Amino acid sequence: MKKPAPFSPELNNKIEQFQAQAAPMKLGTVDFSSKLLLAPMAGICNIPFRLLMEDLGAGGTVSELISCHGINYANQRTLEMLKIDNLEKNVGLQLFGEDAEAMSRAAEVAQNYGPKFLDINMGCPVNKVVTKGGGSALMKEVEKLAPLFEKVRSKIKIPLSIKIRTGWDANHLNAAEILKIAHDSGIEWVAIHGRTRTQQYTGLADWNFIENLNEVKKLPLVGNGDLHHPYGVSDRLLKTNCNALMIARGALRNPFIFLESLDPNYAKQKRSIFHGKDYWEVVQRLYTYNTEIFPEERTTLVQLRKLIVWFAAGFPHAAAFRSQIFGCQHLGDTMKFTEDYFLSLGESQKFINYDEVFMSSGHG
Ligand SMILES: Cc1cc2nc3c(=O)[nH]c(=O)nc-3n(C[C@H](O)[C@H](O)[C@H](O)COP(=O)(O)O)c2cc1C
Repeated sequence: MKKPAPFSPELNNKIEQFQAQAAPMKLGTVDFSSKLLLAPMAGICNIPFRLLMEDLGAGGTVSELISCHGINYANQRTLEMLKIDNLEKNVGLQLFGEDAEAMSRAAEVAQNYGPKFLDINMGCPVNKVVTKGGGSALMKEVEKLAPLFEKVRSKIKIPLSIKIRTGWDANHLNAAEILKIAHDSGIEWVAIHGRTRTQQYTGLADWNFIENLNEVKKLPLVGNGDLHHPYGVSDRLLKTNCNALMIARGALRNPFIFLESLDPNYAKQKRSIFHGKDYWEVVQRLYTYNTEIFPEERTTLVQLRKLIVWFAAGFPHAAAFRSQIFGCQHLGDTMKFTEDYFLSLGESQKFINYDEVFMSSGHG
C-alpha cells in the first residue's frame, strides 16, 4: 500500500524523541530496529496492527499463528493470513502444526510471501491445537523436534525461530533441553513466554526462570510475559540477560508502550506524554490501514472497535465509551464517537489496575 499521511508534527516529535533512543539489534542474521518486539496474537496481529506497531516503535512483529494444514489445503482464508504489506519492515510469519512433512511444505509456501523469518508456534495451550499434537504439545514430544526443525530448515532459505513456554507443567520445565535441540537443528533464536502450558495465562510469568535460562543458552533468547507497562518493560530491559523482549497484551492498552519503554527515567515517572489527541491520530492511522487492506466495511469495523476500546482503557469514562462503541454498527459513526471521546480527554492520564486480569486466553 502507499504510505499513509504523516502524523501531526506534535505527535511526530514525541515519537522521534523516543525513537532516537532505540538500539537496533540482531537476532541470528535478522536485523531489528529495537529490542522490543510485538508478540504474535491471533485475531490481532494482522497487517494493519503490525504496521501501526512498527510506526509506533516495535522493532519487529510476528503474524498470528497460521495453520500448516490450512496452507497445504490452499484454504483461501489461511492464505490471506500469509500476506505481508510492502510497508512492513521486520515481520515474521508464525506457523503451527505437528507434522514435519506438513510443516515443511507449508513453510516453503509461506516463505514465498516475503517474511524476514518464519517462527514455529510451540506455546499454544488451546485444546483444539494441543490434542492434535501442535502448539505447546510439541514441548512434550522432544524426540520429534530435531527431525521437525531440520525438515523445515531444509526447505527454506530464511531464518527459522521458535516460540515456546517454560514447559508443559511445573514438573516438566524442559525449555533448556529444547534450546539445546533448537541450537543443534539450525534454529536462529527462541522466544519464551514464562509460563507452563498448564498455567495457560494464570499466575505470573516466571522471569527468574527465563533469566536463568540465559546461563545455559547457546541461542539468542527473547523473553516474554507480563510486560504490561513502560515502567516494567524499561526496568526489565535494564537488567535482562535476554537479547530482546516481546510484548503482547501491553500493546493493546498502550500502543505507545514500545516507545515509552525506551527511556527508563521517563518510564519511572509513570506519567504519559501521549494524550487523547495522540490516540485519536493513532486510530485514524489504523483506520487507513484497515480500509486499505479490507474491502468490506464490516471487517474494518470489527477490527477497529476492539482496538479502540482497548486503547481507551483506563481513561475517564472509558466504560460508557465502550458501550457506545459496541452499540454502534456504522463505521462512520464509530469514528465520530471515537474522535469526540479522545479529543474530550485533554491531558487526562490513564489509570490501569495492572493487578487485574486482562485477556486471560491466547494462542501462545
Ligand atoms: C489474544 C491473544 C492471542 C495470542 N495469539 C498467539 C499466537 O497466535 N501465537 C503465539 O505464539 N502466541 C500467542 N499469544 C501469546 C502471546 O504472544 C504472549 O506470549 C502472551 O500473551 C504473554 O505475553 P504478554 O503478557 O505480553 O501478553 C496470544 C496472546 C493473546 C492474549
